[in-house]
Amino acid sequence: MKKVKVHSPGTVANLVCGFDILGMALSEPYDVMEVTLLDEPNVIIHNKDNFDLPTEPEKNVAGVVLLSVMERMNNKVGFEITIEKHIKPGSGIGSSAASAAGAAVAANHLLGNIFSADDVVQFAMNGEKLASGVKHADNIAPCIFGGISLVRSIHPLDIVSIAVPDLFVTVVHPQIEVRTADARQILRQQVLLKDAIKQWGNIAGLIAGFMKNDLDLIGRSLEDVIIEPVRSILIPGFDEVKKKCKDAGALGGGISGSGPSIFMFSKEEKTAKSVEAVMKDVYNRIGVEYNTYVTTINKKGVEIL
Ligand code: HSE
Repeated sequence: MKKVKVHSPGTVANLVCGFDILGMALSEPYDVMEVTLLDEPNVIIHNKDNFDLPTEPEKNVAGVVLLSVMERMNNKVGFEITIEKHIKPGSGIGSSAASAAGAAVAANHLLGNIFSADDVVQFAMNGEKLASGVKHADNIAPCIFGGISLVRSIHPLDIVSIAVPDLFVTVVHPQIEVRTADARQILRQQVLLKDAIKQWGNIAGLIAGFMKNDLDLIGRSLEDVIIEPVRSILIPGFDEVKKKCKDAGALGGGISGSGPSIFMFSKEEKTAKSVEAVMKDVYNRIGVEYNTYVTTINKKGVEIL
């Protein structure tokens, strides 16, 4: 029986100003999955964690991805998957993308890598559709490829890998659940031209900063005048965390994906740890439980072990 084990990393989507078009992979946390190729058309799911996610394939993010691969193979194969999630669902650090991308990469590997990278992204986006109601690739792309991805377009798919600066990332996950679908529903459908101009400047500045390894430009560009003002109200302590982290030396940061996690970039590991202490302080004081990670940008993406 053909079997593969993968590590599938957490991701930070949007990178503040790039709603639905930018994302980056994290070295930690990551999910662990084992997938076996079956010779009958069936998807069997086992959960090896305490998140109580559905095991019916059509209701499970990894399950729908494997079903879509199975269909493409004219139902000649099936898959059995054991999922050990370490990325909490609803955390804003790409939990659904890790399930979806890990399953897609593992299935392709078991089939002898017959599908292109774009096909693998397409399969994985079926999982995001189940989780958030829409297909978006800003978590999927960096999860699969590692590093920082620009999703220039999803129709047709056009994904660009962006140079990865040597930065440390601090993430705090206040233990409240924000459903991506809800965090999308509250967004305004129109933007003012003056806000769009600011946002374009920041996105271009951020990409230029990454490519030139200009850390100050990266810091200046981490500003979101469109999404953050709306979504930050769902995250207790957001403004205070952001301000105090910057005071502690972080380059900048903001909401990770649709929240509630908040991420911050720092030049040095020492600063990233001071930023973590600031985050802990705020949530200890306001009495919200949390998890933190001090990590780096993952350059490998889904890893086949
Ligand atoms: N770009 C998506 C959003 C990411 O912000 O809704 C969700 O993980």
